[in-house]
Amino acid sequence: MRLITDDELAGSPVAANSLMNRERRLRSYDRELGIDIVGVLRATPRRPARWLDLCCGAANALHEATCLLGDDAEIVGVDLVDFFAGQPSTPRLRLVTASVATWRPDTAFDLITCVHGLHYVGDKLGLLAKIAGWLTEGGLFVASFDVRSIRLADGTPAGRRLTAALRAAGLAYDGRTRRIRRTGRGRIDLPYRYLGADDQAGPNYTGQPAVDSYYAPE
Ligand SMILES: C[S@@+](CC[C@H](N)C(=O)[O-])C[C@H]1O[C@@H](n2cnc3c(N)ncnc32)[C@H](O)[C@@H]1O
Repeated sequence: MRLITDDELAGSPVAANSLMNRERRLRSYDRELGIDIVGVLRATPRRPARWLDLCCGAANALHEATCLLGDDAEIVGVDLVDFFAGQPSTPRLRLVTASVATWRPDTAFDLITCVHGLHYVGDKLGLLAKIAGWLTEGGLFVASFDVRSIRLADGTPAGRRLTAALRAAGLAYDGRTRRIRRTGRGRIDLPYRYLGADDQAGPNYTGQPAVDSYYAPE
């Protein structure tokens, strides 16, 4: 099997295609993540509260939250393609066309989410480590995550050793809901070296073709 680079992945039809569900609204985001996004942002002591949504798709949920929260929140959405539902009508919502593999924020966030986006990222563990450094002290990160998409060089799933390493790094993985979660900024060093991505892995639990990410344990 030929593993591809993140640059090659950005051009792969598996990473971005017209069959993807990019349209999720706020209620659907809440359901997928098991949180009340507006409630989390309202409960944040800082004003404006900051929400970063990676792989935001059409950004419907972000537009809705912007309307509900007014000046109380600043929201940033990042997606590889600019299939946004509309351009923001306020500077409190910023939509960025970029790959999360290379994009860097210029501020910390009280809430970071990624709804069915990590499935298409190459270096998933590298991104998780970066995200931990983008949170505020009490900030919350929640994302859809399929631990079976993390593979070792022989193709086997990284399995329990990985979930233990994630837990030790403060990243709680729930295999039933397939969510990963962390509270608070931190420096994470996961003992895995990224080898490349397989965009021919086939459908994952969502039924959509997804990307497996290969690592060598260190
Ligand atoms: C299944 S859609 C989910 C979109 C949105 N979160 C939702 O639930 O409506 C996955 C999104 O990930 C985006 N994506 C894939 N690879 C990406 C990357 N490397 N950087 C940023 N976005 C990416 C795709 O363009 C697509 O919009």
